[in-house]
Formats: sequence, structure tokens, C-alpha cells
Amino acid sequence: MLEIQNITVKYNNSDKPAVENFSLNIKRGEICCLVGESGSGKTSVIRAVQGNLPGHGTVTQGDILFEGQSLLNYTVNEWRKIRGTEISMIFQDSGAMMNPVRTIGSQFVEYIRAHGTYTKREAWEKGVQMLKCVRLPDGEHIMNSYPFQLSGGMKQRVGIAFAMFFRPKLLLADEPTSALDVTTQAQIVRQMMKLREDYGTGIIMITHNLALAAYMSDRILIMKDGNVTDSGDREHILHNSQVDYTKKLLSAVPSAGGCYYV
Ligand SMILES: Nc1ncnc2c1ncn2[C@@H]1O[C@H](COP(=O)(O)OP(=O)(O)O)[C@@H](O)[C@H]1O
Ligand SMILES: [Mg+2]
Repeated sequence: MLEIQNITVKYNNSDKPAVENFSLNIKRGEICCLVGESGSGKTSVIRAVQGNLPGHGTVTQGDILFEGQSLLNYTVNEWRKIRGTEISMIFQDSGAMMNPVRTIGSQFVEYIRAHGTYTKREAWEKGVQMLKCVRLPDGEHIMNSYPFQLSGGMKQRVGIAFAMFFRPKLLLADEPTSALDVTTQAQIVRQMMKLREDYGTGIIMITHNLALAAYMSDRILIMKDGNVTDSGDREHILHNSQVDYTKKLLSAVPSAGGCYYV
């Protein structure tokens, strides 16, 4: 579905790339986590896929294919058609993406109607249903709430409900649980895994938590200074890796093995 082919990302024509020779293929229903310390290039990879590099960031080498088509050549209009529907995003702080002076419901209805043909009432009802899917059972109440009336965990669930509404083929998640307490993190992650099961969504998720990555992913890529230093399935990363940096990351995670999250 998604093929990232040997891309290099640079900012402001700086000689030192933020990401160098990065490749990754994602099939439908597959979860891949990018793990690495701050500044290692994780967000740059996701933003390159999303066609949304900030500032003067550019992909200077390689290609990114989505269902065989180069995303690098997509026009603004082509992006508008697939962003939020076929490819969607969850951020660390979904609340920051919401309008603070409008209810969740009015924003959700607007979002749904911008991408699909629904009446206001249909959009509202579908919105409430979707909130139930992310375990916000009192959907009507949430719809009538303002963002500030919800906890961080609830806002992240609302963010996931938005992102998953159109059953995207690809979900890009940049540290979606980092700001949450451990229990809520575990719930949100399980929610994402359930949705990929129900909808066959492929997920690229960024986290600096290797235990969390091991728990949820089919594949893990470890990044450092813009390069992939190690990659493989959970078994490889947790038990068989010979890479020193991977071992160092593992030793920093007391709950490695994922039992913390089961
Ligand atoms: N808007 C930007 N302008 C210039 N350099 C940037 C910008 N965003 C990120 N970088 C640089 O790219 C590198 C990778 O950053 P980033 O992709 O944000 O890493 P991570 O998400 O792993 O923390 C860093 O060296 C960072 O300074
Ligand atoms: Mg980042």
C-alpha cells in the first residue's frame, strides 16, 4: 500500500539531512513503529509521507508511493481528496487541533460533511456512533462538550474518532499517547489496534517508548541521527538484536517485553 523508497529529507538546504536513505513498506493492516530519541528524524518521515514538511523541508531523494502513485507529485487538490479519508493523522495533542470555542459535535459534523455526503443529522448520529467505537459511550454528551471540558485522554479518543471515521487505509500517528498516563495510554493503543483489525488500516506510529512499540507493532524501526540503526519484528528487537543502541534503549525501559501494556 505504502512504499517509502530510500528517501532523504533536508531542511533549508542544510548539508546534513534530517533523514537519510529511509525505506519502509507498509501493507494494509500492518503496524510499524518508529522509535528513537528526540531529533532522530521520526516526525520528518511522517510529515514527508503526509506531504506536509514544515518550513523549507524537502524530500531531496527517493520516492513515496501510495497504492503505486507517487505522493510527491500529488497536487493540492489530490491531497485534499485523500487527506483525512484515505490517509489520516493523529497528533500528540488532539486538543490543540480543535477549535476551543466550538463544541466537539459542531466540529465533528463539519469534518464529516466536508468529506462525505451526509445531512447534519446523519453526520451527528454517525459521529456519536464513532465515539462509541473509541469507547466514549456517552457520545451525545461528548458532542455537546467544548474541548476544555474533556480530559486529555478523552480528547485523544475524539482525535482517533475523527482520524478513523472514513476508515483510512493509512494512519500516521505522531506520539499519540505520550502526553497521557500509562493506563490511558494502554487503552488508546488497544483502541488503535482494534480499529486496524476492524478496518484493515495500516499504521505508522512514532513513539519513544520501546515497550509500547514492541507491544503493538508488527515491525519496529529504530532511528538515530536521521538513519535507521535497527529494524525487525518484536522478537528480533527485544531478544535478538546485536545493535548496541537498541540494547541501550531496551535497558532504559524497565517494562520491555510489553507486559506493562497487556
Ligand atoms: N522545521 C524545521 N526546520 C529545520 N530543521 C528541522 C525542522 N524540523 C525538524 N528539523 C530538524 O530535523 C531533524 C529531525 O527532526 P524531527 O524529524 O522532528 O525528529 P524527531 O521527530 O525524531 O524528534 C532535527 O535535527 C531537527 O532539528
Ligand atoms: Mg517528533
